[in-house]
Amino acid sequence: MNSAITFAAQARGYAKAAKDLEDRGQPERARELYLKAAKLYNDASMNSTEGIDRNTQRDLAEHLFARAQALKKSPAVLSSDGNTQIKRDSTNNDDSSLSKDDVFLKEIPKTGFSDIGGLEQVKEEIRKAIIYPFTHKELYQMYGQKAGEGILLYGPPGCGKTMMAKAAAKECGAEFISVKTSSIVSKWVGASEKNVKQVFDIARQGDRSIIFFDEIDSIASRRSESEDYAKRVVNELLAQMDGVDTASDNLLVLAATNEPWAIDPALRRPGRFSKLVFVPEPDLDAREAILRIHLKKRPLDNDVDIKHLASITNSYSGADLAAICKEAADIPLGEALRGGEARKIRLEDFETVLQKRKPSIVSWYIEARSAIQKTGEEEVFAELLQK
Ligand SMILES: Nc1ncnc2c1ncn2[C@@H]1O[C@H](COP(=O)(O)OP(=O)(O)O)[C@@H](O)[C@H]1O
Ligand SMILES: [Mg+2]
Repeated sequence: MNSAITFAAQARGYAKAAKDLEDRGQPERARELYLKAAKLYNDASMNSTEGIDRNTQRDLAEHLFARAQALKKSPAVLSSDGNTQIKRDSTNNDDSSLSKDDVFLKEIPKTGFSDIGGLEQVKEEIRKAIIYPFTHKELYQMYGQKAGEGILLYGPPGCGKTMMAKAAAKECGAEFISVKTSSIVSKWVGASEKNVKQVFDIARQGDRSIIFFDEIDSIASRRSESEDYAKRVVNELLAQMDGVDTASDNLLVLAATNEPWAIDPALRRPGRFSKLVFVPEPDLDAREAILRIHLKKRPLDNDVDIKHLASITNSYSGADLAAICKEAADIPLGEALRGGEARKIRLEDFETVLQKRKPSIVSWYIEARSAIQKTGEEEVFAELLQK
């Protein structure tokens, strides 16, 4: 039998036993079994050849690990509706049910606007919506301009949405709290809403924070509306956003998605993600800037003209361009490792790579157009239909 399948079956057994033990009020033994199950799912995910299985197993491993972590510090109690809830220990104020690494990551980012090629218009919008309200708070108050509405970055994959959100935090010196949207949905414990609330509580404690929900479509899509857990998470997210006091809370909420048409429209009401910012694929100048960034530290032969490279990479995303630079460098590197001369990267290396790698943007636009027409929201996403 496929070893990944055996692993997964065993893991399911452990997880079920752990849940039973937890329900019977034996957190220590439950924790041990959750950890065993998490480890097995993790191993299974590494042995899995199917991408979908791999992701699911990794997510399960994360959930189970989070469950074990939660049991470590705070005893779980059974609530009247049968859902296990996490009881906060009043002597222990360290957000025990959230393990930092499992559900979100708090950091002061190192990459800023200068690491992002092109997207000048988006940077300007971010300055006005995020950076100036933090850095010129009094001016905004003086003119009665309310800042602090949530921003939804949308656009084709690999064109810098995640980078832009991080850079926004770096540019205004904010702490960047990036939520792993898939991990926040914990079907096991019905504690997903609590996770959302805790993220906001933690952000409020900081001097200045940006909360970022990446790939928010994974919880807040129209199609997941029927799923009970997703609905609860979204409702809590909306309640938290409605409760942000822009005068006293130094926090802003950002989200990103490749599928803006799939997002529950309730999220776009005023005070929520009412500002939509389109992060487009790079134009000619932007491609040149991106290529310069990714080739800065690589040795180029004289026949490599970055302007020319930019001109032959229409419809390639920023992520495509980054990969092209890496793969082109891999060619002489491989030769050198096999004993050849450590030569510079030539134009032909880029040409070889480009023949194999097709631009990833085209299919996204095709999908976008057909999906938007189905929702009847052509006006909201006009930019996507003009292409
Ligand atoms: N404008 C850009 N400038 C420089 N690098 C970029 C740019 N856009 C994308 N990249 C590269 O592609 C990678 C993926 O970008 P990311 O921000 O995760 O895209 P998205 O979130 O839109 O899918 C980045 O880590 C970076 O290496
Ligand atoms: Mg991203």
